[in-house]
Amino acid sequence: MTQQHSVIAPAQTPAKAQRSDRRGDWWRDAVIYQVYPRSFADSNGDGMGDLEGVRARLPYLRDLGIDAVWLSPFYASPQADAGYDVADYRAVDPMFGNLLDADALIRDAHGLGLRIIVDLVPNHSSDQHEWFKRALGEGPGSPLRERYHFRPGKGEHGELPPNDWESIFGGPAWTRVTEPDGSAGEWYLHLFAPEQPDFNWEHPAVGDEFRSILRFWLDIGVDGFRIDVAHGLVKAEGLPDLGSHDQLKLLGNDVMPFFDQDGVHDVYRQWRTVLDEYAGERIFVAEAWTPTVERTANYVRPDELHQAFNFQYLSTDWDAEELRTVVDRTLEAMRPVGAPATWVLSNHDVTRHATRFANPPGLGTQIRTAGDRELGLRRARAATLLMLALPGSAYVYQGEELGLPDVVDLPDEVRQDPAYFRGAGQDGFRDGCRVPIPWTRDGSSYGFGSAGSWLPQPDGWGELSIEAQTGTPGSTLELYRSALAARRTQPDLGAGDSVEWLRAPEGVLAFRRGEFVCVANTSGESVTTSAYGRLLLASGEVTEADGEAKLPADTTVWWTTTP
Ligand code: GLC
Ligand code: CA
Repeated sequence: MTQQHSVIAPAQTPAKAQRSDRRGDWWRDAVIYQVYPRSFADSNGDGMGDLEGVRARLPYLRDLGIDAVWLSPFYASPQADAGYDVADYRAVDPMFGNLLDADALIRDAHGLGLRIIVDLVPNHSSDQHEWFKRALGEGPGSPLRERYHFRPGKGEHGELPPNDWESIFGGPAWTRVTEPDGSAGEWYLHLFAPEQPDFNWEHPAVGDEFRSILRFWLDIGVDGFRIDVAHGLVKAEGLPDLGSHDQLKLLGNDVMPFFDQDGVHDVYRQWRTVLDEYAGERIFVAEAWTPTVERTANYVRPDELHQAFNFQYLSTDWDAEELRTVVDRTLEAMRPVGAPATWVLSNHDVTRHATRFANPPGLGTQIRTAGDRELGLRRARAATLLMLALPGSAYVYQGEELGLPDVVDLPDEVRQDPAYFRGAGQDGFRDGCRVPIPWTRDGSSYGFGSAGSWLPQPDGWGELSIEAQTGTPGSTLELYRSALAARRTQPDLGAGDSVEWLRAPEGVLAFRRGEFVCVANTSGESVTTSAYGRLLLASGEVTEADGEAKLPADTTVWWTTTP
């Protein structure tokens, strides 16, 4: 007997009813949705997304089936790096709303059973932060300069930077200041833009201030923090020259003198004691680019943070063998520290995975060509079902549930990514994944807001909108909804810390987890495998006959062995 299954949707389970039954440690298998506030929804028609826009769309997120929302920064900021340059850690930028809006957003989210994680940016402040402005104004010798990394320059007249470090955004990592008397003076360190001076974490005032900022947001009711550049806080003693190292690699094999220094772990052990003073299961997640998953595991030891992003996974091509290796290594690295693995395919810093997979492998995470869009989308859908079948927690970046491609052809004059303007940065094209998302088929900015949008949306965006995809069989949005619903009804999805690999043809990954089986065909050809049980979900058209299943190229299938 031949049965034709297209992409199928399992019975919808009301998310809320399921959620209340969930066991503790919600974060161990949580699906966490990243909202980039600038680009999610604009409530007041100024072309810029805002907190009220997010609040109004919370029911959409609840219905999507996610567990928590991570909000990129919405703090007071001159926006030199889209809010990752914070001038006041305790204030909301007027462009996003105010503290009452933040409070209302958190309360409403909790009412819907969603948790809220906010971004914390401790590696650097804005150059408009009160401390830095005063440090500059008071001149050399000001005690406030000790809270940052000020140094005299090298060379006869101090005209050369204190060391050879380069900024991640391109150019030297040092900027020379003009002293209050008008003379060319000291230099300060900024691993990112010049508007983002690095804090000196050896200074006790910095640690005190951040523990107080943690309490401020915990008191308001947030459920956790995503820690920006968590690997960067502590610099090697003496700020030694790098020499001939390849400077700009975030995922290299070497430990850099400004990244992943052992001293950062003291900071996180202290933070953990603060967090543990608060009721409820609140969490920290580290943005830590480290040379290996083993070093990433150091951030999630039992007395430190809860999760760390798995950038090795994000950087892996759509290739069965490479994926299997990174999955195994991740699970092995996390097991001894007892932390859940995390999985992520897209965020606000990398080319969206529908476009990465549309291009040939080996190009990294910053891609400037559209590639084969249909192929990219097919692989992206398959990659998502694979990710959501793995044990641990998964991160979804706004718009990936619509299968959005990166906008690779933004005109130069609308670009805002600071790295773009600093030349040879490895990631000057991040605006392409930050284009406001489409909510409706037509209308002003496709439902993003009542006026335009801060980055132009491409033609055809409306066909990818939430409106166009809702209830449409086979749409990427419905695929995500079905997958997230299945994570609630199938206890073996997401839980645990291992997978049992099954024999599979070349280019195919197959694994079992209890009563659940996932098969991902990464090869460019269709393949035939066993039909492992009742088909739960597939990212493409699967045909089953006589106990076998035919998977088209770049397709992932979920089965359950329960009847
Ligand atoms: C992190 C953020 C990125 C930002 C950088 C500097 O990598 O994700 O967007 O530019 O830190 O704060
Ligand atoms: Ca707005």
